Amino acid sequence: MTMIQFVDKQTRDTWRFVIDLRYFGSSDPTLHLHTFISLAASPTTSREPMEFTTEQLSQYNGTDPSKPLYVAVKGRVFDVTTGKSFYGPGGPYAMFAGKDASRALAKMSKNEEDVSPSLDGLTEKEIGVLNDWEKKFEAKYPVVGRTAL
Ligand code: HEM
Repeated sequence: MTMIQFVDKQTRDTWRFVIDLRYFGSSDPTLHLHTFISLAASPTTSREPMEFTTEQLSQYNGTDPSKPLYVAVKGRVFDVTTGKSFYGPGGPYAMFAGKDASRALAKMSKNEEDVSPSLDGLTEKEIGVLNDWEKKFEAKYPVVGRTAL
């Protein structure tokens, strides 16, 4: 079952959903049970998030058009490829691509030096702004992992 090794959480949940549907339409409960156990027992279902070093995250900054675009907020890496017009090359927020842009988002700044994960010295208001951005990203983009500490 190495096939699902690289399947992300969202897809695995979809699998489980499909399997559950099959169970409800089936008279054989063991079918469900066995499939469920094999999924649960498999190391491929690990909930460990993918970790990105700064260097790895920077690969997803849009310079390679064959790669997705990632932006991290508070250490969580979002796939913002559908927001290519914002974050892609030449876009108004291209400086955030391949980076943790928390500080810049908090300060509503596009300055290079603010494109950083550092929350040092942010005001309560700025933290509030950042949390609003985080909610927006959560609603719009899939999470693909975390930044390495
Ligand atoms: C005069 C200044 C600005 C104007 C008029 C403006 C306007 C806009 C507009 C119209 C959108 C599209 C919103 C949507 O379709 O959901 C947008 C998106 C965005 N703005 Fe600005 N913006 C300005 C400045 C800034 C600054 C300084 C930042 C720095 C953090 C910023 C960060 C963003 C981000 C990250 C998005 C994309 C959100 C997404 O991925 O959906 N904006 N902006």
